Amino acid sequence: MRREALVALASASVLTLTGCSQEKLGPEAERGRQVYLSQCTACHAADPSQPGPVGPEVKGSSRELLEAKVLRVTYPPGYKPKRPTNVMPPQPQVAGDIPALAAYLK
Ligand code: HEC
Repeated sequence: MRREALVALASASVLTLTGCSQEKLGPEAERGRQVYLSQCTACHAADPSQPGPVGPEVKGSSRELLEAKVLRVTYPPGYKPKRPTNVMPPQPQVAGDIPALAAYLK
């Protein structure tokens, strides 16, 4: 490989590494991120602090809120929903990943 190519490759990986270190996630939060990106971003934004194409921002959602909304399509007692609608279908496939989702979104 030519020297310039090696230099370019090296600086690219440095950039990648610094990019990651800014938001270093623990293993559970990282798993939550993957579940979120694969199961939720059809409607919610890839950046959970932003409103998505269909659903509102979900950054800061508690485990209690996730369990209620994602599994039972309801809200914890006394919780004021961000939207008055009832568009989101239940997502039972993520039942085992609620703690991971909560770790990622907190
Ligand atoms: C089909 C689109 C769709 C999918 C898929 C979806 N959501 Fe939603 N979500 C919505 C919409 C729309 C709302 C606003 C309330 C409503 O209409 O149900 C919402 C609301 C929420 C809320 C409540 C926000 C608040 O504070 O009021 C949470 C939490 C949430 N979604 C989490 C998730 C998670 C986690 C996933 C993936 C496992 C997911 N959603 C998948 C559309 C979706």
